[in-house]
Amino acid sequence: KKVVLAYSGGLDTSIILKWLQTEYGCEVVTFTADLGQGEELEPARAKAELLGIKPENIYIEDVREEFVRDFVNPMFRANALYEGQYLLGTSIARPLISKRLVEIAEETGADAIAHGATGKGNDQVRFELAAYALNPDIKVIAPWRLWDLTSRTKLIEFAEQHQIPIAKNKRGEAPFSVDANLLHTSSEGRVLEDPAEEAPDYVLQRITRPEDAPDAPEMVEITFEKGDAVAIDGEAMSPATILTKLNELGGKHGIGILDLVENRFVGMKSRGIYETPGGTILLEAHRGIEQITLDSGSGHLKDSLMPRYAELIYNGFWFSPEREMLQAAIDKSQERVSGTVRLKLYKGSVRTVARWSEQSLYSEAHVTFEEDAGAYDQTDAQGFIRLNALRLKLLATRKRRG
Ligand code: ARG
Ligand code: SIN
Repeated sequence: KKVVLAYSGGLDTSIILKWLQTEYGCEVVTFTADLGQGEELEPARAKAELLGIKPENIYIEDVREEFVRDFVNPMFRANALYEGQYLLGTSIARPLISKRLVEIAEETGADAIAHGATGKGNDQVRFELAAYALNPDIKVIAPWRLWDLTSRTKLIEFAEQHQIPIAKNKRGEAPFSVDANLLHTSSEGRVLEDPAEEAPDYVLQRITRPEDAPDAPEMVEITFEKGDAVAIDGEAMSPATILTKLNELGGKHGIGILDLVENRFVGMKSRGIYETPGGTILLEAHRGIEQITLDSGSGHLKDSLMPRYAELIYNGFWFSPEREMLQAAIDKSQERVSGTVRLKLYKGSVRTVARWSEQSLYSEAHVTFEEDAGAYDQTDAQGFIRLNALRLKLLATRKRRG
């Protein structure tokens, strides 16, 4: 038996690795992805080797470009927000990890994959729905739902029994659970569990507190092509480079902190602190370019689809026909979403201050408060209002009758 494990190199997935070897008796293949979490990956290789994984069974890959190009960018074309606020940083990374797990299983002749998500959360659902959608025969092992290592103490005991190195600060209760990638860092649990208590400042991992951000504003220009950011300040860059640069800018100016209580797919509410510096800038910029390049029909329609689309991603249905149908509609809307947005970054805020495009639908001739040289005939509006009012007048008349 062979299983491909999503392996971070951290304590929990190292315990899972050992557990799969000892309790399940299977050969373990590890997959460690650089999604831009800002951690060295080579220590994960060393640790996997230490735990007895054969070098040819250790997969370490930089998937940052694929992550932004094929997952983050398509999602941002929709301006996706879950429950009005969450930029879906964890949700959008899971299908990519699952896709690689399934592919590596096929390459190495493994019949199962394993992940370190608990039985209480969204991540298990996302990993597994994506995996089954890509390979209906794949088996999934979710140790958190199976084992009896139900407390931190038992986990540490297991680690000690099996000579798994434990970082000093991991011996006690970790203060909270973190998931990070190029798009965001999320922190949940423990000191954050009471939503009536303010999160301590030390939770923030990548964004300067707005209070401590520079006193001078900074401007940035983002250029879009067909809905995707392609350049910063006139310089063309790869998708992951753009997000990295925007993360630096947002982090410096205190942009993208969110404290949210959300509804998990499995039914409970959970409280999280999200840091999405670059993504917050990107969403504002994308809305800025859509303002001038989208007509109201397609703009309002895609806005009405957005909550549904965001919910599909949150709930783990990235690889589903309904997500792909919505994606096709959203992508169609982006054909002329090209141009440049200038934004002002200042102490926690990002604001569009200018936008221009060769594809602009904005017509100063029509909208001007000055002489419009016949572009628009104001008397047309009379009949327009009269017909729109007809139904309302009939209703009002009936109401007056009582
Ligand atoms: N609540 C967020 C979501 O469901 C973040 C989950 C964080 N995951 C983690 N393993 N810490 O997308
Ligand atoms: C987990 O339960 O593993 C993390 C939280 C989540 O998946 O929602």
